[in-house]
Parts: sequence; structure tokens; C-alpha cells
Amino acid sequence: MKKIAILASGNGSNAENIIKFFENNETVKVSMVITNNSKAFVLERAKKLNVPAIVFDNSNWKNGEIVLRFLKKNEIDFIVLAGFLRKIPESIVNAYPRRIINIHPALLPHFGGKGMYGDRVHKEVIINQEKETGITIHFVDADYDSGAIIFQAKCPVKPEDSVEVIAGKVHELEYKFYPQIIEQVVLS
Ligand code: GRF
Repeated sequence: MKKIAILASGNGSNAENIIKFFENNETVKVSMVITNNSKAFVLERAKKLNVPAIVFDNSNWKNGEIVLRFLKKNEIDFIVLAGFLRKIPESIVNAYPRRIINIHPALLPHFGGKGMYGDRVHKEVIINQEKETGITIHFVDADYDSGAIIFQAKCPVKPEDSVEVIAGKVHELEYKFYPQIIEQVVLS
């Protein structure tokens, strides 16, 4: 059994979608949800879905050693980021080479980097009059949004599209592709 820890800071709709995808899977299991935000709605979702959840507050993400020890103790094989807003400490990146996966709500290398998350990404897409946007699933290295790309999917952007409309299209791609790409990576 390969064990996944999902890291999320907020709403957690992707986290929920991934947990549901792997329910009853015989080779891959979402063992836990980890957050840096004790108010994150992902905690409610984890509770509802009977997945253990733990909060490591922001001080724990500076060097990451306590988190890393916890991951090791629980024999976590892969880390999946689903709207996790802290940088992953180098100690954890080094301990999980090509075993940390992130999803970014745009077509990297465009519209990525520090501070580019959530609606800010979609706003930039509108400002730049992009004709398309999408999702990028990538490995995580010690920087923001710069690890090797695993998969991308695109959707069209119309001139009249609002941030909410774009976010909806991008979420649809996320829900469709993230779980299956995670499965491919974990089993490869
Ligand atoms: C997603 O759009 C994902 O691409 C990004 O953060 C967002 C999280 O949304 N990295 P949710 O918390 O899964 O609803």
C-alpha cells in the first residue's frame, strides 16, 4: 500500500475529490490531511470523510523537521499539495525527491511563483488577455512552481470571462485530472 499525505491550507475541494477517488483503492491510500491553518475548511471535509487531520502551525514550516519526522513515523510515501500556501521546507523536499506533487491553476511557466495563487492567477490571465489557461501538475522542488512538469490541460478563456468563470473551468480540469495523475505517479 502506498500512503499519501494531502497538504492543504484552505477550502479543500481538491483534497475531498482526491480522498473520494482513492476510497476503496487497494494499492493507494490517503492516510492523512495536514494543514498549516487551524481554520481551514479542509479540516471539516477530512472529518466528514474519516481521514485523520493534523494542524502544524506556521512555525513548524520554517525548517520542517517536526513535520518530516511525523511523515516518516507514519510511513508516508507521497505528499500531494492541494491549495497548500506555505513553501515546502528543503528538508522535506530532499527527503521526498519526485514524491511531492502540486497542482497550479494556470499553464506554468506562466502565472506562477510567489504570491501567485487562487484568484490572483486568474486575474492575471484576464489582464494579459490570454486566450487559454488551464492546470499544471508538477513535482515540487525548493522553489515556488518551478519543479518538473508532469501534466498540463487547457481550457479556453473568452474575452467576457470573469475570475469566477475561469476559476470554475480550471476547477473542473483539476477535479477531472488531478486524482488520476496522482495515481499514475504513485504507481509508476
Ligand atoms: C486550486 O485551484 C489549486 O489549483 C490551487 O489551490 C486551489 C485550491 O482549491 N493550488 P481547493 O482548496 O481545492 O478548493
